[in-house]
Amino acid sequence: MNIVTLGDERLRLKAEAVKPIGGEYQKIAEAMVETLHAGKGIGLAGPQVGLLKRIFAVHVEGDIPRVFINPSIIETSQEQASYEEGCLSIPGVWAEVVRPKGIKVQAWNEKGRPFTLEAGGILARVILHEYDHLEGVLFIDRLSEPKRNRLLNKYEKRKRA
Ligand code: NI
Repeated sequence: MNIVTLGDERLRLKAEAVKPIGGEYQKIAEAMVETLHAGKGIGLAGPQVGLLKRIFAVHVEGDIPRVFINPSIIETSQEQASYEEGCLSIPGVWAEVVRPKGIKVQAWNEKGRPFTLEAGGILARVILHEYDHLEGVLFIDRLSEPKRNRLLNKYEKRKRA
């Protein structure tokens, strides 16, 4: 699958619910995990491959690849954490982003089975980042304006180089 990058309006649209879950989505999920691995990323959401559906795949070190379809973040911790984030759709730049430290998420997997997961650390981080993609939100939106502008300048310079 081809990854769309910053400037593509599909990254800014709200993704639609997957229904029915299952069928072709098992293949789509597999292709997304492959694309994620090929890009050496840890998370990839539907809109990033031009698919405006509520699906994302994550694979963090020491864990199995996980697919989330029609996810809901049902709990977030009061405690926040800052962690450096990047995005396959904004390659080559990273920034510290503050988000809740722990979450509880409910979703369906690629086989159409519902599950609930409590996550902390980098797994919680990547799930929140990918969930944002389903809402048309990018991690740069969560930076202060001066920080965002600095990052975008760096990104543009890098792209021209
Ligand atoms: Ni991203």
